[in-house]
Amino acid sequence: MAAVLQVRDLCKTYIVSKQQNHVLRNVNFTLEEGEFVSVMGPSGSGKSTLLYTVSGMDRLTAGEVVFDGQSYSALSEKQMAELRLRRMGFIFQQMHMLKNLCVYDNIILSGYQALKGGAVKRTRKDVNAEADTLMRKLGIMDTAAKDITEVSGGQLQRACICRALINRPKVLFGDEPTGALNSRAAKEVMNELGRINREGTTIMIVTHDIKVAAATDKVLYIVDGNIQGELVLGKYEAAQPPAEREKRLTGWLMDMGW
Ligand SMILES: Nc1ncnc2c1ncn2[C@@H]1O[C@H](COP(=O)(O)OP(=O)(O)OP(=O)(O)O)[C@@H](O)[C@H]1O
Ligand SMILES: [Mg+2]
Repeated sequence: MAAVLQVRDLCKTYIVSKQQNHVLRNVNFTLEEGEFVSVMGPSGSGKSTLLYTVSGMDRLTAGEVVFDGQSYSALSEKQMAELRLRRMGFIFQQMHMLKNLCVYDNIILSGYQALKGGAVKRTRKDVNAEADTLMRKLGIMDTAAKDITEVSGGQLQRACICRALINRPKVLFGDEPTGALNSRAAKEVMNELGRINREGTTIMIVTHDIKVAAATDKVLYIVDGNIQGELVLGKYEAAQPPAEREKRLTGWLMDMGW
């Protein structure tokens, strides 16, 4: 397996009213191509900060992050924005959908933004076709023309996944992608993410939910800005009872002081 993301001695310090807050302290890990990894840990431990810095949305204070062979320190803001647009997809708990656009327009927007200057020649028609395919796969075709306030939380989150996938990213990042959903909708979203992962997209998510983390290949546990341990669960097999993985994860989390 090739490493798609290499994180070495990553530190992130926020300075608020002259006080230094060392939120990430020498974090090291590698995300391999095809992996589905989750990050767990207490509230305030630095999970979101970790996701934002490794995905280049936020600058790091020290250390190195290499995405697909490119070190962030060598990239300008503009190159970084290009990398995010073309190679990464994002899903958040607060969904950041544009309120004045319908579901469909929200999904295609970054597809249109990426048309110019892409390695693969694409037209608006191709983007529309891609949006149709994604929406059909995620079962939200009938919401296309709806206002984003007119659809359910689960439908909206599936729309966010479509939007995140419109440029066929190499890596999909999610900060509590099921956080705002009820357990049934969360399960559906996890099924979709599992399928997307099997189809080749590498995924890294932050979650508080044991059921969600138990469906991923590997769990990183972060405390006070440091990875304290990792549990390798392996690829989720349909034949395997989810309860077994959840039990194993729960036991491990107890040992980690969860
Ligand atoms: N933009 C910011 N400016 C200053 N401090 C910040 C900023 N973002 C986060 N922090 C601080 O960094 C620490 C870690 O925050 P972070 O959001 O990464 O935690 P988290 O593990 O995601 O928590 P939760 O589980 O509650 O989402 C907190 O002490 C927080 O106050
Ligand atoms: Mg967070």
